[in-house]
Amino acid sequence: MVDLIPDKKTQLEQIAEEARALTASPLYEYRIQNNYHMVFGEGDPDAAILLIGEAPGEWEAKKGQPFVGASGRMLNELLAGIGLARDKVYITNVVKDRPPANRDPNKAEIELYTPFLLRQIEVIQPQVIATLGRFAMDFIFATFDMPQQGEKISALHGKVLTAQTPYGEIAVVPLFHPAVALYNQSQKQTLVEDFQALKRFV
Ligand code: URA
Repeated sequence: MVDLIPDKKTQLEQIAEEARALTASPLYEYRIQNNYHMVFGEGDPDAAILLIGEAPGEWEAKKGQPFVGASGRMLNELLAGIGLARDKVYITNVVKDRPPANRDPNKAEIELYTPFLLRQIEVIQPQVIATLGRFAMDFIFATFDMPQQGEKISALHGKVLTAQTPYGEIAVVPLFHPAVALYNQSQKQTLVEDFQALKRFV
């Protein structure tokens, strides 16, 4: 029998290609004008752990990779703290293009990129999704119709929740965004401790 389903890496590349070609995106013109790249995501397509941030910043848009600026360095440090190399997880964002002047992504932008993130999740089928910041947390709560919808990240960070997905039950761990730790030592300590919740999936 010939295997007609492409491997995960190829499937992800195909989805990235579609997202890149999406001229209807409200952020497409801004990307082209600034010589930016779309930031689809990177890492191990077979990863047990999927990390989801908000949207690329300037460095990310320049390089076409998620979390490669100051927040990225913080994220790498947090991952190293639980003995996890960055290339052993998969890292992406809710929104795949940089919003102007680092503003929050708006509803139209989130909606446009939603099917792409859902397809990434479907291909990777992670055992745990760690959300970085409230945008990704709200997105995952709504997507999997989780009972925690509407609750605040300050009450849920570091907890291991469960979600029912089309491919079975998975864990969801809401985390603060690594950017909050850049200038605040006590927030950093909280993140260091919360990352411990991911250790059991390493
Ligand atoms: N912040 C995010 O949410 N994502 C990135 O890729 C970089 C910074």
